[in-house]
Amino acid sequence: SQPLRLGIAGLGTVGVGVVRILRQQAALLTARTGAKLTISAVSARSKGRDRGVSLSGYAWEDDPVVLAKRDDVDVYVELMGGEDGPAKASVEAAIAAGKHVVTANKAMLALHGQALAEAAEATGVALRYEAAVAGGIPVIKSLMEGLAGNEITRVMGVMNGSCNYILTRMESSGKTYQDIFAEADGLGYLEADPQLDVGGIDAAHKLAILSSIAFGTRVDFDGIQLEGIERVSIDDIRAAADMGYKIKLLGVTEKTGRGLEQRMQPCLVPDTSPLGQLEGGTNMVVIEGDAVGQIVLRGAGAGEGPTASAVLADICDIARGVRGPVFGQPASTLETSTRASSQRP
Ligand code: NDP
Ligand code: HSE
Repeated sequence: SQPLRLGIAGLGTVGVGVVRILRQQAALLTARTGAKLTISAVSARSKGRDRGVSLSGYAWEDDPVVLAKRDDVDVYVELMGGEDGPAKASVEAAIAAGKHVVTANKAMLALHGQALAEAAEATGVALRYEAAVAGGIPVIKSLMEGLAGNEITRVMGVMNGSCNYILTRMESSGKTYQDIFAEADGLGYLEADPQLDVGGIDAAHKLAILSSIAFGTRVDFDGIQLEGIERVSIDDIRAAADMGYKIKLLGVTEKTGRGLEQRMQPCLVPDTSPLGQLEGGTNMVVIEGDAVGQIVLRGAGAGEGPTASAVLADICDIARGVRGPVFGQPASTLETSTRASSQRP
């Protein structure tokens, strides 16, 4: 069968998960795609580190930009993270060299998605990013493919598992935000910069990407009305419970008469609703379409297996010949969003 040769930059939680699936499920992946998926080369910061998975047979590159342009790489898989730096430089280099790209990097896409999409579409390569939003939940595919016949009216959901963990632990334990933040940090649930989680920024990156696909607008992270969970007190949580509500960091994007409205902020949701019942680190995305009605997607938004699962879905799509457009319609046709929030009195 036809080989598809991968170069993987980033061998942390997600990268190791991707290598593991490629090694363990080689026959299944070939049967499903008709292609033999092989890894040509890998890159990470520390070459010598034992990562719990064999890297034998793969070339090593210290520089992800060099990896991205190698002749024996058809698909560059960026799993390092960071909105700029080597992630963006290597993805740009890969696109310029005519390589397809798969990434899980929501920060990079939320801030540079438009330029990257235009470059990928001009070059005719795929730029796929299923893992960037809600980890293992196939929300991007649902919007772009399964719901392609719908006008989307609203997308909302809980898109940051760490914040949902903190809020549900505050409810169940009665402890303060500070206590549970320390607990989550100790368990390794928070990003290296925890402000990305608790400040709502990570979830807002994801919402910005979903808005673009759902409503055909340019990715507009700055247009999001954003508030994190740092000011949610145990008294707020108790008061909400007394009224039959839970507090969730809820993202909502919808087109109103005033323009695109994107909000990421702590909200009251009825405690008996699907969103109210969402526990721990789980994610939930609710999509409303004019023809289909309401779809609820729920599952693991992070972790090695779920996130690698989404990365593999993109790699398999590329093996089957899927290319673009990156945000569901050509990047050149995406509208500049008008911001409802800034027009409020
Ligand atoms: P990790 O921090 O676990 O791993 C990052 C990897 O990138 C490490 O292997 C690191 O090398 C490597 N790296 C960092 N800088 C460089 C560099 N300059 N050159 C080469 N390699 C470099 O990150 P994750 O696996 O958790 O996340 C990867 C991406 O996936 C991010 O964009 C993240 O936002 C996204 N994501 C992660 C999820 C998760 O559950 N973890 C869920 C959804 C998306 P070394 O190991 O040597 O330090
Ligand atoms: N910090 C993120 C979360 C990781 O807690 O959801 C997955 O994107």
